[in-house]
Amino acid sequence: MKIGILISGRGSNMVAIVDAVKSGAIADAEVAVVISDKAYAAGLGKAKERGVETVVVERRGRMRAEHDAEIISELKKHGVELVCLAGYMRLLSPAFVQAFPNRIINIHPSLLPAFPGLDAQRQAFDAGVKVTGCTVHYVDEHLDNGPAILQCEVPRVDGDTVDTLSARILEQEHRLYVEAVREIIRRKHDR
Ligand code: GRF
Repeated sequence: MKIGILISGRGSNMVAIVDAVKSGAIADAEVAVVISDKAYAAGLGKAKERGVETVVVERRGRMRAEHDAEIISELKKHGVELVCLAGYMRLLSPAFVQAFPNRIINIHPSLLPAFPGLDAQRQAFDAGVKVTGCTVHYVDEHLDNGPAILQCEVPRVDGDTVDTLSARILEQEHRLYVEAVREIIRRKHDR
């Protein structure tokens, strides 16, 4: 399974997937390319250090359809079969979603459908919930929408701040995203 990962920033979930492929924790897979819409994304250096090809496709004032078309073409050029969004901060166009049917997944730091959008950890914290978590889900053209693949609960504990809670969620994100990619590869083999 050739994987393409889209990032916009830090790239810690991307690193979790790349390292799991390298260690064999995710078998029968290769990370073919990491694509960022931001030239300064810290994740780009982390991908390069790990020997993964990187491509920057900046928006540069273009329409979404045109930007997406260039990303789709890079993904296809690299033979990508599974697209993992990992902190990619843009909505995908319907054409992008249709180019990879049931083959685009995302990680979000809440138990969707609760707290979609930006700053999900803070949203959950401010709402005072006792349990939040993270979700890996299939992607459609709507924000943090689409069927869940795996979810993991993370309880809020006494003395938590947004930062400590976010850090515990992130730890689970890395584990959950790897598990979800393994699950998708397993489903592909079962078909
Ligand atoms: C993660 O919390 C992810 O759930 C959300 O954006 C953040 C990206 O972090 N979609 P990183 O770039 O993977 O470190």
